[in-house]
Amino acid sequence: AESTPARIGIVTVSDRASRGEYEDQGGPAIRSWLESALVSPWEPVARVIPDEREGVEETLADLVDSAGCCLVVTTGGTGPAPRDITPEATEAVCTKMLPGFGEQMRAVSLRHVPTAILSRQTAGIRGCALILNLPGKPSAIAECLDAVFPAIPYCVDLIG
Ligand code: MTE
Repeated sequence: AESTPARIGIVTVSDRASRGEYEDQGGPAIRSWLESALVSPWEPVARVIPDEREGVEETLADLVDSAGCCLVVTTGGTGPAPRDITPEATEAVCTKMLPGFGEQMRAVSLRHVPTAILSRQTAGIRGCALILNLPGKPSAIAECLDAVFPAIPYCVDLIG
């Protein structure tokens, strides 16, 4: 019997993209990166939401608890601006943090752009899901996923 495809949440956290002021590029960039990296069947569950802490927490919790995602990747809201709250929302819904992901992504990103030091991106575990923050810049998506990818399936395996 075929197993059900793994669900992966893709969450774009952006006031402007959620209002339709510009087209979301981060979500589709994550999706196409995963399409070329993953070998087992999977299906994306995509959301585009504003930088509101309560809404981000609800979306992350819902993708894990109701949609059954084993991995949720966010893009945006990791910087120092007043409305950047994605890392705080991530930490609020996780039971355990995995700071190594943020450390590694910043270290690799710093080779590309000095402003990578401004990203507060992190990762953590909720239930049997890994939640991973990426910065909002579409160019950061591949740079960051390339940097940590080998640890993702291993982590999902350990917590599942
Ligand atoms: N990381 C990579 N790899 N490439 C980038 O262009 N931009 C930085 C940083 N990390 C960047 C990056 C910038 S300019 C900021 S402000 C922070 O990510 C936070 O971005 P965010 O608030 O859109 O998440």
